[in-house]
Amino acid sequence: MSGRRTALVTGAARGQGLAVVHRLLDDGYAVVACDVLGDDLATAVAPLDADRVVARTLDVASADGWRDVVGAARERFGRLDGLVSNAGILHRAPLLEEDPAQFERAWRVNAMGLLLGLQACVPLLRDGTAPAVVVTTSNTAMRPFVGHAGYAASKWAARGLAQSAALELAELGIRVNTVLPGAVATPMLPESSIPRISSWVPLGRPGRADEIASVVSFLLSEQASYLAGAEILVDGGQLMRTHL
Ligand SMILES: NC(=O)c1ccc[n+]([C@@H]2O[C@H](COP(=O)([O-])OP(=O)(O)OC[C@H]3O[C@@H](n4cnc5c(N)ncnc54)[C@H](O)[C@@H]3O)[C@@H](O)[C@H]2O)c1
Repeated sequence: MSGRRTALVTGAARGQGLAVVHRLLDDGYAVVACDVLGDDLATAVAPLDADRVVARTLDVASADGWRDVVGAARERFGRLDGLVSNAGILHRAPLLEEDPAQFERAWRVNAMGLLLGLQACVPLLRDGTAPAVVVTTSNTAMRPFVGHAGYAASKWAARGLAQSAALELAELGIRVNTVLPGAVATPMLPESSIPRISSWVPLGRPGRADEIASVVSFLLSEQASYLAGAEILVDGGQLMRTHL
């Protein structure tokens, strides 16, 4: 086993996942960076330290895909100490116009992807050093927003799964905690919505991807050694507003 802490990050080609990759490299980790957008991922990691980053194309909704990336982690670094389940898709539709196929796809990626990731990674994580999992859901897994029923349902499912995992995996010594971002300025957030969001959010702006990454870094670290099942809302105070 190499001496370096190793983490696997999903949705790593851009946005919050890529910010997490940068942050974990700064923290001294080796990283297995995964994304369904293989070309974008290759471009994103090209400037990074090739000794400490391995990039793999992964659809988190594919159990076979998970087997391949965990095999790559084992082969390349011989260990896994952290899993950052960050990949996600935004899906908007009015409730009564919801397309069942789109609803199901959001659930497969945002919720089942977490289940498959846990099932694939835990056998390696349990032998890791101070192993930890961080799950990214959304502040919409605490409060509903109009037009987001399918997305919210998938993120509530992920939140419930993360809570169950926190309980069941604690006895293996694996800490599982959840980050619930509000609006974060990444490709997922339409530019056109930034003025409206800025006027709602008490801190007056959307979050930056690196501001989420610093919370993920903390939750993976020994500084969070007594956190299990915690849910950290990182939304600039958005949910304190009662009139959304
Ligand atoms: N940006 C926001 O305002 C916001 C708010 C709340 C929660 N989130 C959540 O934060 C997480 C990160 O999102 P982001 O803001 O960086 O958005 P993003 O769209 O920039 O990045 C998401 C990444 O996930 C990847 N991805 C999508 N489906 C995948 C799949 N099936 N398998 C593997 N990778 C896949 C995408 O290719 C992309 O690189 C997501 O779970 C998202 O739902 C985002």
